[in-house]
Amino acid sequence: MTDAELRRRAAKVVPGGMYGHLNAAIFAPGYPQFFERGEGCRQWDVDGREYIDFMCSWGPVVLGHRHPRVEEAAARQLALGDCLNGPGPVMVELAELLVDTVPSADWAMFSKNGTDATTQALMVARAATGRTKVLMAHGAYHGADPWCTPSLAGTTPNERADLVEFAYNSLESLENAAATVEGEVAAIIVTPFKHDSFEDQELVEPAFARGARALADRLGAALVIDDVRAGFRIDLRGSWEPYGVRPDLTAWSKAMANGYPIAAVTGTDALRGAAQSLYSTGSFWFSAVAMAAAKATIETLRDTGGIATMERAGAQLREGLYAQAKAHGFTVNQTGPVTIPWLSFDGDADLSTALYWSDACLRHGVYLHPWHNWFMSAAHTEEDVARALDGTDQAFAETRAHFG
Ligand SMILES: Cc1ncc(COP(=O)(O)O)c(C=O)c1O
Repeated sequence: MTDAELRRRAAKVVPGGMYGHLNAAIFAPGYPQFFERGEGCRQWDVDGREYIDFMCSWGPVVLGHRHPRVEEAAARQLALGDCLNGPGPVMVELAELLVDTVPSADWAMFSKNGTDATTQALMVARAATGRTKVLMAHGAYHGADPWCTPSLAGTTPNERADLVEFAYNSLESLENAAATVEGEVAAIIVTPFKHDSFEDQELVEPAFARGARALADRLGAALVIDDVRAGFRIDLRGSWEPYGVRPDLTAWSKAMANGYPIAAVTGTDALRGAAQSLYSTGSFWFSAVAMAAAKATIETLRDTGGIATMERAGAQLREGLYAQAKAHGFTVNQTGPVTIPWLSFDGDADLSTALYWSDACLRHGVYLHPWHNWFMSAAHTEEDVARALDGTDQAFAETRAHFG
């Protein structure tokens, strides 16, 4: 079954043929919609085309597709049972591993998706403080529930009424936002760096991170780090740990289980009672296979220095792309951590250059994205990145030839 045939069939039975941000129709024309399989840092689409994968399934695949240690742990658990009358022993083992790994974590609660975790973290903060307001950065993505989805379709104004926005990395803006709702702030929710789509990424200013911590303390509000996208690719202990800033609550998901569906909220002792007071459940939230996969993923990242491996591969990619862009006469910006890279073209407000270049990359076997950050995995070897750079070089050449 080809991609074109599947799209024709999907158009009849799936809204829009595919909904949300994975709808290939919103990327450049050559992007496949349907994929057959993945292995290591490679994916194959249903038409048999092979790509070196720099999206890693939009973040979850951190060790490479079908990593043997993770697959073995998942298979072992599956043979025992996945969805039982209660969690397996692995739930306790995984919570213990998180508490041992993450200094701000005294406990962990599990769910399935990043949105579950960000929503649950805010519920814990509200239950603890008895307040409603949440300070969040303008344009930040925290998930697809009505309170946070970027599209207002299907939402009500009430669902947004408790959000007060501030500008990322501006302590003054954060303090001004807090002042408008004095005494009502339950939480400040913030991503570890600014990774809004369509924009260059921005690392956090350490003074902003420390200021957010101090403000949360002053307000008696919870500092929530949304580590759903960045977690396990910057620092296993939590993405603001290098700055010495510890949150009260952290939302995790994506890279936690190398592609198996799981999310977590971790938090401090002070919030344990509030966490316990929530009605928190989901039919599949306690399935043991994803927990076994999460445990194996975090242990493998820890034991093999997975983040350092990604940093080396990401730095190689970044240096290579800078050199190629310059040689072909393009000025590009590469922003964010090297493990969560992104490239934009200077003066490309309508993204026409990025769309053309990313499409050309695809034709040369490199899967990346024109307006959303990319993800490295620990499976990207020096040879893989070098091979990918051959493809991106040809893509730069074709882009230059196209635009003149
Ligand atoms: C920072 C951040 N928070 C929350 C989410 C929501 O996660 P999910 O799509 O798993 O619900 C995402 C997803 O991309 C994210 O990047």
